[in-house]
Amino acid sequence: MFDKITVEMKARMDYLEGVDSVDRTDGTTRLQRLRQIPPETGKFIALLASNCPMGNFIEIGTSAGYSAMWISLACMDRGTRLKTFEILPEKINLAQQTFEQAKITQYVELIEGDAIEQIKSLDEISFCFLDAEKEIYEQCYNLVIPKMVKNGILVADNAINHYETLKPMLESALTDSRVDSLIVPIGKGELVCRKR
Ligand SMILES: C[S@@+](CC[C@H](N)C(=O)[O-])C[C@H]1O[C@@H](n2cnc3c(N)ncnc32)[C@H](O)[C@@H]1O
Repeated sequence: MFDKITVEMKARMDYLEGVDSVDRTDGTTRLQRLRQIPPETGKFIALLASNCPMGNFIEIGTSAGYSAMWISLACMDRGTRLKTFEILPEKINLAQQTFEQAKITQYVELIEGDAIEQIKSLDEISFCFLDAEKEIYEQCYNLVIPKMVKNGILVADNAINHYETLKPMLESALTDSRVDSLIVPIGKGELVCRKR
């Protein structure tokens, strides 16, 4: 699957990795920063997504589309399309540029607006990557889990670097009888839940 990374995708990945690393040190405001996952988390979520059962793939929190590029590799493998949700207009513009430059618009659908409203109309979710503001994690989790197919996978980012903020959500996910779950120490820490 990783052999499917095209020259165009690699160029955009390299560009966004550069912007993201400068963002973190040059005083760019939090909302303007890309705040994207590191490449090892990208590989991890692509591998998980590529092994999910049949169903819909979603991402909550697109930013400039870096993590969506990784998930798109699983979409190519599976012949499916990712729906990715983003609320901020500047990020929507960047993500559109990403998907066009990387030539992956056939594998990624960018949906503008509040993910919480949009998720309500979805079902048969087999893969969800949750990477938005920490305040909405619990609400998103509670909306997505009932809509997941058996053996579907939900991955939530920042489970280690924002453990204290996310503690109530993480503790309820880790003891939720609807899923098998654990926190994987890769990148910023990934909560991985598989629907029973
Ligand atoms: C941590 S960044 C996502 C990084 C991205 N997943 C990546 O690794 O490339 C979080 C993004 O979630 C977006 N966001 C926050 N709340 C949202 C909501 N309710 N609906 C849709 N997007 C939201 C933010 O605007 C921000 O761009």
